[in-house]
Amino acid sequence: MRITILGEEVLRQKAKPVENIDDDFRAMLDEMYKLMKDTNGIGLAGPQIDDSRRFFIIEVEDGIRRVFINPQIMEMSKETCPYEEGCLSIPGEYEEIIRPEKVKIQALDENGKSFVLEADGILARAVQHENDHLDGILYIDRGDEKFREKIIKKFELRAIRHAEKKAAKEAKAKRIAAKIAAAKQKANS
Ligand code: NI
Repeated sequence: MRITILGEEVLRQKAKPVENIDDDFRAMLDEMYKLMKDTNGIGLAGPQIDDSRRFFIIEVEDGIRRVFINPQIMEMSKETCPYEEGCLSIPGEYEEIIRPEKVKIQALDENGKSFVLEADGILARAVQHENDHLDGILYIDRGDEKFREKIIKKFELRAIRHAEKKAAKEAKAKRIAAKIAAAKQKANS
């Protein structure tokens, strides 16, 4: 399991509902939770682990692990507030984003039981940020247009560099393999 990065198609897709909440799904949630904690995240959504289904995990400073499956936002407050957001799929970048202060959300928990949560503060912020991921929306889409363009370009270049490095590595491995094969042939002849 790995975290997908801006530029990957899955982050821009509209995720599909979760159909089976079973032991396999719960085991996957545990792995995802561990990945989130290991990377110091407070929220992680399906598309961020290359799974285009509608679910996310949040754990804010109250230390409660909250799982939201097939969530529906029911209400958002008219009052908005700014908050600096970051995203594990856009590492190293932060931007102040204005969103509704409070939110009411309905979802299924990891046992398939329906619950309603009224959230404010950082929890309300995380819920909206993660829920956006399920619709292919990233926080940079809700901020400054110029910042958004700059970040998208930066990550495009980053992806190209990664692809080039990977290709160079593979070419080198091929050359080494060819040398070893040639040496073996020599030894045998
Ligand atoms: Ni995010």
